[in-house]
Amino acid sequence: MRIIRDIREMQAASRAARVQGSAIGFVPTMGALHEGHLSLVRRARSAADLVVVSIFVNPLQFGPAEDFSQYPRTLEADCARLEAEGVEIVFAPPTEQMYFAGATTVVHVEGLSDKLDGRSRPGHFRGVSTVVAKLFHIVQPDYAVFGQKDAAQVAVLRRMVRDLNMDVELIVAPIVREADGLALSSRNVYLTAEQRRQALVLHRALLQVEGCANSGERSAEKLRSAALAVLASEPEAKLDYFEIIHPDMLEPVADLAQGALAAVAASFGTTRLIDNLLLPPR
Ligand code: PAJ
Repeated sequence: MRIIRDIREMQAASRAARVQGSAIGFVPTMGALHEGHLSLVRRARSAADLVVVSIFVNPLQFGPAEDFSQYPRTLEADCARLEAEGVEIVFAPPTEQMYFAGATTVVHVEGLSDKLDGRSRPGHFRGVSTVVAKLFHIVQPDYAVFGQKDAAQVAVLRRMVRDLNMDVELIVAPIVREADGLALSSRNVYLTAEQRRQALVLHRALLQVEGCANSGERSAEKLRSAALAVLASEPEAKLDYFEIIHPDMLEPVADLAQGALAAVAASFGTTRLIDNLLLPPR
């Protein structure tokens, strides 16, 4: 496995692979890898000949009061796990190369970037779309794999790829959970045992929505009320949003006729967690 830190070296490696006719599968990450990330790596492997994983804690997507400096950085352990998965290239650029002094160009997906997490984290999705566009230019992937865990991120990046005619196919992989339902996240390490227990309420609220939908409830408002009742049972959960929305437009829907995304965000102590569930059309 090659570990590449230099942008030009990464570009040259991608060019060489493409000249040889290899299809490149790409998994962008911020490291602190867990089984959720590894499921994306396996998905990339099934689509492509050569797998590139980037590890870059992107300062541009963190707000001034957020956890950028605290974010877990475990490069050595991450590389060992990726090597065991048979990954060909880890791309881990230094921040000064990704954001050189004087750079002023950003990618901003208007109309989506201020929804859901973008509403409570202003500038977050602008940071995500900018870094992913840069990474796509550097890695030149044929396929790029993202997790359904970050459903709004998927909507923003799909729109970016469509609007800017980027020559890459996005693949979305399902959410990987702990046995008790907690969605895997690099931020779960911040939770105390008690907060981890409290955080299970997110999955319970989504299961409640799924159960009501399976028993015939179609009204988004009624499904949302059912979820809010479950969330209220855990008073330590500081709810940011629970919404039932169109998965691509991120606008509230009235019912499940066209299918919908149930998405939730809440903080436990200072740790903000997100989760979601896709509801098929009924
Ligand atoms: P990060 O949080 O490291 O996540 C990297 C990828 O792993 C994302 O596509 C995310 O959706 C996916 N992922 C995280 N937890 C998952 C889980 N439990 N199941 C399945 N997939 C999961 O998302 C980012 O980094 C950044 O915003 C990035 C796209 C790298 C841009 O900086």
